[in-house]
Amino acid sequence: MKIIASNFKTNHTRKSTTSFVEKLNTFLQSEKISNEVYVFPTSSSLDNFDVLSTLSIGVQNAYPTQKGSFTGEIGLEQLEEFDIKTILIGHSERRHILGETQEQIKEKFNFYKDLGYKIIYCIGEPLEVKEQGLEKTLEYLYEQLDGIDIAYENLILAYEPVWAIGTGVTATNEDIVNVHSAIKEKISKPLLYGGSVKVANVREICTLNGVDGVLIGTASWIIEDFIQIIENTKDL
Ligand code: PGA
Repeated sequence: MKIIASNFKTNHTRKSTTSFVEKLNTFLQSEKISNEVYVFPTSSSLDNFDVLSTLSIGVQNAYPTQKGSFTGEIGLEQLEEFDIKTILIGHSERRHILGETQEQIKEKFNFYKDLGYKIIYCIGEPLEVKEQGLEKTLEYLYEQLDGIDIAYENLILAYEPVWAIGTGVTATNEDIVNVHSAIKEKISKPLLYGGSVKVANVREICTLNGVDGVLIGTASWIIEDFIQIIENTKDL
């Protein structure tokens, strides 16, 4: 049973998100799919979705606060309105484009951990680190786990090499297996791969040693493709 997650990033409207979630839920129900499925819409598209227990709607980000003065952010009060219990933390776009530091990420992790949230926690190295070899890559990845309770029961990890995100360049099977097996030796948590996963390669990636599922951006935004991705992995 694989974990399949869709990160909408800055895509879809409230209307198209509702249609996506409804179609997805109908598919999961009629095909009796047992995969654990996650969708992370934009915060403006959150709603009280009536979905199966195997389909979770999470947020791509939230501030570590109940409520307060944090312009542009949302907090627990806004999540509770829609019964959200799942959050993505540490995504490379937040680390590198929005400048989130490990200190801020740690604070966010601890806040939502204390509330029992399911946390999909992302780590991944940029190209210049990958080029220095596996040892340096692992060193970099472990730094991104600084201050993070890796024993937390509701933790799912996602390995997403930055150079593979949104670029169409998927990591090779060897790259994925090397990193996943090293992480798995240290941390016994579900570990997803992310970075240019698509309909055509999702099955192969999901059969690799140490891969418990995938976190997908670009290739997951069209509902027919996302359904096909789940079709391609439903028996694994
Ligand atoms: P991608 O993004 O599938 O578009 O490469 C993956 C991610 O950022 O989670």
